[in-house]
Amino acid sequence: MSTISVADRIIYQIYPKSFKDSDHDGIGDLKGITQKLAYLKELGINTIWLNPIYVSPQIDNGYDVADYYQIDEKLGTLADFDELVAKAHALGLEIILDFVLNHTSEKHPWFQAALHDKESEFRNCYLFHKGKDGGPPNNWGSFFGGSVWQQDPLDADNYYFHLFAKEMPDLNWAEPKVRVEMLKIAKFWLDHGVDGFRLDAFIHIAKADFEQDMLTSSDKPQIAEMFYANLPQVRTYLQEFISQLRQLKPDIFILGEAASADIDLAVDYTTPADKSCDTVVTFRYFAEDKSQVEPDLPQIGQPVKLDIPSFKYNMLEWQKRLEGVSYPTLYWSNHDMPRILSRFAPPKEHSACAKMLATLMYLQRGIPCIYYGEELGLMSQTLPTLKAFEDPQIIDFANKARAKGWSENEILESASQAHKMAARLPMPFDETAYQGFSTVEPWKYSKVLQKTNIAKQESDQKSPLNYYRQLLRLKHQELFIKGRFILENTSSKLYVYRRISKNKQALVICNLSADEQSYPCGDLTKVLLGQNAKVLGQKVQLASYGAIVLER
Ligand code: GLC
Repeated sequence: MSTISVADRIIYQIYPKSFKDSDHDGIGDLKGITQKLAYLKELGINTIWLNPIYVSPQIDNGYDVADYYQIDEKLGTLADFDELVAKAHALGLEIILDFVLNHTSEKHPWFQAALHDKESEFRNCYLFHKGKDGGPPNNWGSFFGGSVWQQDPLDADNYYFHLFAKEMPDLNWAEPKVRVEMLKIAKFWLDHGVDGFRLDAFIHIAKADFEQDMLTSSDKPQIAEMFYANLPQVRTYLQEFISQLRQLKPDIFILGEAASADIDLAVDYTTPADKSCDTVVTFRYFAEDKSQVEPDLPQIGQPVKLDIPSFKYNMLEWQKRLEGVSYPTLYWSNHDMPRILSRFAPPKEHSACAKMLATLMYLQRGIPCIYYGEELGLMSQTLPTLKAFEDPQIIDFANKARAKGWSENEILESASQAHKMAARLPMPFDETAYQGFSTVEPWKYSKVLQKTNIAKQESDQKSPLNYYRQLLRLKHQELFIKGRFILENTSSKLYVYRRISKNKQALVICNLSADEQSYPCGDLTKVLLGQNAKVLGQKVQLASYGAIVLER
């Protein structure tokens, strides 16, 4: 039985390839994570989410799974995994796995069978469909560029569906065999001691009628979420799948990735009566300020800032509408987006910004989910080559930017601030070669080393790392878990909220700007945590990017 309730969870997301290399091949691995469990315990988290660790051709860094029952050999073995789980559990830490259920790798034996034999019993496990007018069945676009359709090598007028890369064919959840197999895989990992799952891209497991085109005047494929995201059938499949998992393990923790879900869907997916997800991750918090973006260049290579007023509005909506329903996931970064500091912090103040942003986000009502290295205030790094992005869309961006006269350096820098890949670099532990991540050159590497590392921050009382430790200790207090949430109506330079329980109250004041700010705090003058801020009588004075947590 888990000793951690949903409300108590503090998640740490590990991108396994980049966390810690124990066998000197430049790729992080499971044993490396095991070696660092004490560090994670000390940080104050209690749940570790691992990005996919299964056998994979790595077209999409593990999200293309070829064998769900084995660990990718570069990351270790099943025995290493069992050891990781046992040692984590001994420390009171729980492990949740990324569960990739919308698609498999093209190398998965089912797809290989389906692809090479039209009569295969696995053909209906994927979405094969006849073309239209000599082309694909419709004009829907893939998230990774181009069409969702790829020609069937056995029949030129036939296609298979892939929402992501063409090497990642979508599964057909309407086929019972698929649902049975997914359950079997989940059970296998529960038997290996995992405590829950992060459901990857689950909102896409149902698709609309393929006859329907997206309306457009363009002849290019179009993103068509209305036909392949959040269809009503998703809830039915989800409910069936998770309720069966809950029969096997009643306290299983389910974190759903619902990237485009709005608050209404979040309520649906986490409604206790459905017993589906415990919490969902939305990408909708982070409204974008596109004022600096060049309209005639693809956005994928251009950094966008946060639109603060909209961000505040969105947070408020998610905080209030989920009250009494479920706990929102609180996060700033993940492997699919640039690191938050790259979107937010001016170069000289990034340490103060890191602490302020953590205070702002994690003391709200919800489940913190910290992306590895965020606790050090890591920024996205500049990748050394265009190839390192592993994304044809970046090559397209580069070609167009070059034509407008951008230099190679400008292209690399811009793309690195904007693209997910530059947020997936090795964790810096110390000052040794390759910053203690590995003894050889890491799989993904930047010429611009991280300016900080764990060893350096351990010994600095004012470091982001030590601040995170204090903050997470505070987060474990009842008031910051269960207390009501009230966001004050302030200018967009401030983010101020109260957490209120029967006989306690806390006031959290964050300065989102480089300008000095002051804010009345009444009799809440006892400082629980803070930086760049002080109490003067019944007022708080905040220097640039200051933050403070007060109680009576
Ligand atoms: C999710 C993952 C992302 C991956 C995609 C396809 O959105 O977070 O990294 O590319 O699913 O599996």
